[in-house]
Amino acid sequence: MIMSLVFGADYYPEHWPEERWPKDAELMSRAGFNTVRLAEFAWSKIEPREDEYDFEWLDKAIGLLGGKGIRTILGTPTAAPPPWIVKAHPDVLRLDGYGRRAAEGTRKNYCPNNPHYIEHSKRIVEKMALHYRDNRSVIGWQIDNEFGCHASELCYCEDCVKAFREWLKRKHQSLEKLNKACGLIFWGQEYGSWDEICPPRPPFSMQSPSLNLEWRRFSSDSWVRYQQTQVDIIRKHAPHQLVTHNFMGLYKELDYFKLAEPLDLVSFDYYPMWSRDANLAASAMAHDVMRSLKKKPYWTMELQSGAVRTERAPIPRPGAIRLWTIQSVARGADGTIYFRWRSCRFGCEEYWHGILDHDGVPRRRYSEVKKVSEELRKIAPHVAGTSVEAEVAIALDYDNIWAMDLEVDYADKNYYGINSWQPTLDCYTALYSRNIPADFVNPSTENMGKYKAVFAPSMMLLNDRVERNLKAYVKKGGVLVATPRTGAKDWNNIIVNEPLPGRLADLFGITIEEYTGLPGDRKVEIKTVKAELGREGRHACKNWAEKLLPGEATAAARYQIGLYSGKPAVTMNRFGNGTAIYIGTFADPAFYSALADWLTKKHKIETVLPYAAGLEATERSGSDGHIVFALNFDEDALEIACDGKIYQDLLTGKKAAGTLKIEGLDLRILKVLD
Ligand code: GLA
Ligand code: ZN
Repeated sequence: MIMSLVFGADYYPEHWPEERWPKDAELMSRAGFNTVRLAEFAWSKIEPREDEYDFEWLDKAIGLLGGKGIRTILGTPTAAPPPWIVKAHPDVLRLDGYGRRAAEGTRKNYCPNNPHYIEHSKRIVEKMALHYRDNRSVIGWQIDNEFGCHASELCYCEDCVKAFREWLKRKHQSLEKLNKACGLIFWGQEYGSWDEICPPRPPFSMQSPSLNLEWRRFSSDSWVRYQQTQVDIIRKHAPHQLVTHNFMGLYKELDYFKLAEPLDLVSFDYYPMWSRDANLAASAMAHDVMRSLKKKPYWTMELQSGAVRTERAPIPRPGAIRLWTIQSVARGADGTIYFRWRSCRFGCEEYWHGILDHDGVPRRRYSEVKKVSEELRKIAPHVAGTSVEAEVAIALDYDNIWAMDLEVDYADKNYYGINSWQPTLDCYTALYSRNIPADFVNPSTENMGKYKAVFAPSMMLLNDRVERNLKAYVKKGGVLVATPRTGAKDWNNIIVNEPLPGRLADLFGITIEEYTGLPGDRKVEIKTVKAELGREGRHACKNWAEKLLPGEATAAARYQIGLYSGKPAVTMNRFGNGTAIYIGTFADPAFYSALADWLTKKHKIETVLPYAAGLEATERSGSDGHIVFALNFDEDALEIACDGKIYQDLLTGKKAAGTLKIEGLDLRILKVLD
């Protein structure tokens, strides 16, 4: 009775006496588990000495769980090198930008370009793949664990420096081209031979922005390549088993599109209460990025199920685990695996709590998990084969994010005064609060034709491909919305030679006459033009202001105060059959909401349910119809009008129409009948 949604926990049998395992398996089975992830940090137990293997314990654990109908995802254990590798080859440890070696005795301390580490990784992965390819309980593999975690993305060891030089050589072909592409004549840093090249070291603001960007690209590629060596081995020996990696949502130091490409599916480590600035929109956005990397259902591979340490995130309130679990499915996940089954008594994650506490006694969190599994079982047949369909997309490009981060770095993270996700989050939040589903698209590789509107938040870097893509999209009738700095640089991170917005001046029908940063708390006010945006409203803007000079475009908002008083701050331009909107400042949330409302009305973009504070509504669709998920993240009950639709509540079996009531921290899952 395995349901189509994965459901289970990250389990570490190696942390517990074998006598306990049957009880764990029994409790898991009673909680409706069908999947566990095992072994992702167990290299030292599987290969205690070089080329000596012990699979017996793992075979036993997999067998025991399999006997209860619980399948296994195996982690390749390379995220944590065993001490014997480090002893034999101290050079596997990463070097940071100051020449300091990463510490031994922990995880994520190794270099992706170290030949010893690559060889050892290949061997353990091959041994495991050969050992488990015929084990019917093993359904797939998670490669390594959270690439980039613990700020492990950069390494300055000799192997990396050499590989960087080769990477540059392959890309730029000649030193002349490299020097030019990176503007290295600035401060007289042109290279005369390849072995003079050194990766930019901190402080990055004192180095070439272009070489900095190349270094980021190279580092990201290094991890993608390291992952690929493992993917290849599993594909060769166990092509019938699936391959995934656990991604970290809005982590942005690696190119997640590239990392996701060779995998069967993306999985997501979801800690909604972990990061200090976590908010509902950002959490939802992380899910949508995960879904969008492959435009297909993903899994939640780690979902917080207890307090994360004690000062970082308190214990989840009653109902929270259920909300996060259903939220994952609602946003496109085909199931959830919790981190972790039982809180560990030792190790540096002693206070990273799981479903069970240290004593292994099932309590409130266990009951909540069990209850969710019963609900998932009810909805699974309806959810099977469905996915989230969006009419709106947001362009996401990691090169751009890195370029913006590098600029933010220049003035102690205060030049635009923003985090590089912020322009994206501004757009996303408006869509989110209006219950408008959104995909993320890679403007370098994806056709955007199916979307009614596309946001391109501060796409500062532009190349031929992206330019063509954006223009073709609008020409054919799309609505494109851009924010400050769009088109300001070329793909080498060099500022364009023409009036801004560079290659996109014709698309937006404007040039930018002047711009200014707005340091500190300085604000400017803009007023929207009713004829264009459907309503007149005043909005505060911060960080950055561009004075727009319309050519073909018309003004959709004007500055009210400050240097640019009376001048256009937002413009709208007809281009082919579509519309290109340029926003020259970072506006308040109410402005973006007004824009979202205008889009829904003027361009007939559908909302899943009307707006209500605390409500998160999404929809999954398939050949069998639509399922609406309505989640109330507020403590207070809320009510929303169904807009004439009739639903069947999949949890109660009852019909729902008229006004929907959702209790505080509760949810409804509704099949659309009419
Ligand atoms: C990450 C890791 C896990 C664990 C958790 C702690 O997501 O993948 O191994 O360290 O964090 O919450
Ligand atoms: Zn290295």
